[in-house]
Amino acid sequence: MLEEQVKQLGELLMFSGRTMALTGAGISLDSGIPTFRGVQGLWEKYDIMEYATIEAFRRDPVKVWGMLLEMDQAMMGAKPNPGHTALAELERMGLLHMIVTQNVDNLHQEAGSREVVEFHGNVRQFRCLECRQIHERAKVDLVNLPPRCHCGGLVKPDAIFFGEAIPWAASVKAFEMAQQCRVILVVGTSAVVAPASEIPVMAKQAGATVVEINPEETVLTGRVSDTLLKGSAATILPVVVEYIKSRRQ
Ligand code: OAD
Repeated sequence: MLEEQVKQLGELLMFSGRTMALTGAGISLDSGIPTFRGVQGLWEKYDIMEYATIEAFRRDPVKVWGMLLEMDQAMMGAKPNPGHTALAELERMGLLHMIVTQNVDNLHQEAGSREVVEFHGNVRQFRCLECRQIHERAKVDLVNLPPRCHCGGLVKPDAIFFGEAIPWAASVKAFEMAQQCRVILVVGTSAVVAPASEIPVMAKQAGATVVEINPEETVLTGRVSDTLLKGSAATILPVVVEYIKSRRQ
């Protein structure tokens, strides 16, 4: 069954002409970064309203930094896995034209992907909440919390909390592509957080084929997505690339 689905996806990608991917935390799980939802998820341990909103951060930055440091530690040591590498390879083959990622771990770029739209920011750099100045991570004091800018404002990783706006340019690019693409791969996301979750819906409405890669069904499965390849991205995506290579020989 999966073998047949892999072939079908390979053929779809070879002849699509315009393909995007929407990725989420699941693709980085095999790199050792926990997802948000599910039994081992970050939101099982940390209450969203107390730790993941911009109001919570302003109210008690030291408390929220407790969680941010844990995330920072998981992400800083992480390396791309075969799922990230396969997407980078699809781009090099001319078969993947944009990745829109909700992840803030920089692993797509490290795997070699170039056209990456960061929908929720990136934790490799920090930013002042007040004057918006960017701070190099290495120069931020993570011992005396919370770190502050020379303007006095709170400094935080340049990734968004709930209640903050999606970076404008990222949003424009992602939704334009959603309307233009012929195929969208939805990889490792529960697709429950808007507005990112609207991207596959918009793509579908514009006529795209929606293919999910996820070990579990999601809210999109059977409603928005045309197919679900059930399994880990790190296992399935490299097999799809291998299939395409074999067809191109
Ligand atoms: P979630 O934690 O909500 O969902 C992760 C998805 O990955 C689930 O559907 C899993 O079944 C799937 N998954 C698990 N292992 C996988 C694997 N090896 N390969 C592929 N898929 C796998 O993460 P996101 O959907 O990314 O936002 O969450 C969206 C947003 O919610 C995040 O960007 C974050 C969070 O709150 C903010 O904090 C603003």
